[in-house]
Amino acid sequence: MQGLGCKMVPDYLKRIRSNPDVMHECRLALTVSISRFFRDRMVWDTIRKKVLSDLVKKNHNPIHIWSAGCARGEEVYSMKMIWEEAEKNGLNLSRLRLLASDINPVYLVAAQKGVYGKTSLKEVCESDKKTFFHIRKSRKQFIVKPFLRNDITWQIIDLCTELPNQSFDLIFLRNNVLTYLDGDLKEFVFQNIVKKLNPGGFLVKGAHETIPETGVSLTRAYDQTNIFIKS
Ligand SMILES: C[S@@+](CC[C@H](N)C(=O)[O-])C[C@H]1O[C@@H](n2cnc3c(N)ncnc32)[C@H](O)[C@@H]1O
Repeated sequence: MQGLGCKMVPDYLKRIRSNPDVMHECRLALTVSISRFFRDRMVWDTIRKKVLSDLVKKNHNPIHIWSAGCARGEEVYSMKMIWEEAEKNGLNLSRLRLLASDINPVYLVAAQKGVYGKTSLKEVCESDKKTFFHIRKSRKQFIVKPFLRNDITWQIIDLCTELPNQSFDLIFLRNNVLTYLDGDLKEFVFQNIVKKLNPGGFLVKGAHETIPETGVSLTRAYDQTNIFIKS
């Protein structure tokens, strides 16, 4: 409002409604990038113990994973870390191709820089910190190592209006549209995203989110997790 010289909310609403650029700026200003590595521990444990071997059985090469609304990249790099770890432990994984998208270009720039503070890594064990990050002690910063950045495509996508071209074996849809949208728009956006899942593909939702009733068949993949499978 200040930037536009609007003193009263009704003036601002008028500007938003008459100018799509102002609307877009407003939507960006309302985004929240709070995240951390391995947020929702149970999800990541299940990915480690079950989802990876189920993905192997699919025999897809490469495996396509999409982090929809990736914020500053914590979710994306968490997935890469698990993949690297599993390969090191001898699991015969295909190549991983990750799409990391967000509506907010500022977050995507930060994600590509891959520089984090201590709190983002509170769920990362000491040995993983050493394996996957350069540690800049003077500034208490952790910088993602270059090998973790391979095979990630970063893209600006507004989930309300666009979708990627390809389909995916796993989609992370956590703590964004299912939280911030409601009603018909939430259902519409969700259905479109689920259409981008391959049959037998996995959808991961946030810990406190409810998935809307849709025509698409999704069932909980494993007991008590936020991971669903498309039939
Ligand atoms: C709270 S963060 C969640 C990050 C990560 N998925 C997680 O769960 O830790 C929400 C992210 O979703 C993005 N977002 C919100 N609405 C969006 C939309 N319509 N299209 C694309 N990204 C969106 C925000 O910009 C923000 O980066």
